[in-house]
Amino acid sequence: MSEEPETLPELNKNPRHIAIIMDGNGRWAQQRHMPRAMGHQAGVKAVRSIVEYCAEANIEVLSLFAFSSENWRRPESEVSMLMNLFLSTLQSEVNKLHRNNIRLKFIGERKDFSEKLQAKITEGEIQTRDNSGLTLVIAANYGGRWDMSEAFKKIAAKIQSGEINEQEVDEALIGQHLSTADLPEPDLFIRTGGEQRVSNFLLWQLAYTELYFTPTLWPDFNRQSLEEAIGSFRTRQRRFGHTGEQILTKAVTL
Ligand code: FPP
Repeated sequence: MSEEPETLPELNKNPRHIAIIMDGNGRWAQQRHMPRAMGHQAGVKAVRSIVEYCAEANIEVLSLFAFSSENWRRPESEVSMLMNLFLSTLQSEVNKLHRNNIRLKFIGERKDFSEKLQAKITEGEIQTRDNSGLTLVIAANYGGRWDMSEAFKKIAAKIQSGEINEQEVDEALIGQHLSTADLPEPDLFIRTGGEQRVSNFLLWQLAYTELYFTPTLWPDFNRQSLEEAIGSFRTRQRRFGHTGEQILTKAVTL
């Protein structure tokens, strides 16, 4: 005879912040004997449907890794194709994002981009900055180690000027100097395309994030794929260092 468990495991709520590494555009195109550029274009379509889903599902933050600090190592033709794609996507999508109450935020070293792209990025951020719906974070020329180095530089400058003293440096203070200071930490990290790595994405911020890897290539990642990832997240018990029993008996509040 099977016994009913006394306490059912508590389901996670929906994630507040989802962070995604969108991998597999190139392979998606190669499988179809198409140039890699077509894979990136198909990737933009997938971005659109995932952004729509998150806005409808009241997810607070969606962070997308669009271009890493290491992606400059790709062939020049692919880098310039991606830059053109970012620019044309910004030109065609920002008004739509704004109409849907979505706030756009870029993280990463933007001064390496063309003046034109930098101007569009700033314009998009300013146009949407008061929107109260989904925050869409685009990580472009971003690296987690870069983010931390920038934070440490700012903190060091404050110590040097006497604004703070070194005893005040703690995890909260470091978090406040990262590019994501105004955002909750990611609850769910998704990487498509089969690799199981974090690849220098939000390194500090992923400390307690649930990780989800799928072989699905990014252009094929659709609403149903995201629902599956969220479903997996909801069945996991997040303990933040506590025991499972403490969580089930509500001995601690997280
Ligand atoms: C990884 O696939 C994808 C990228 C480096 C670029 C991601 C860009 C987009 C999805 C389009 C633009 C997005 C926005 C937000 C405007 P890969 O080329 O590494 O694929 P592979 O591993 O199969 O070669």
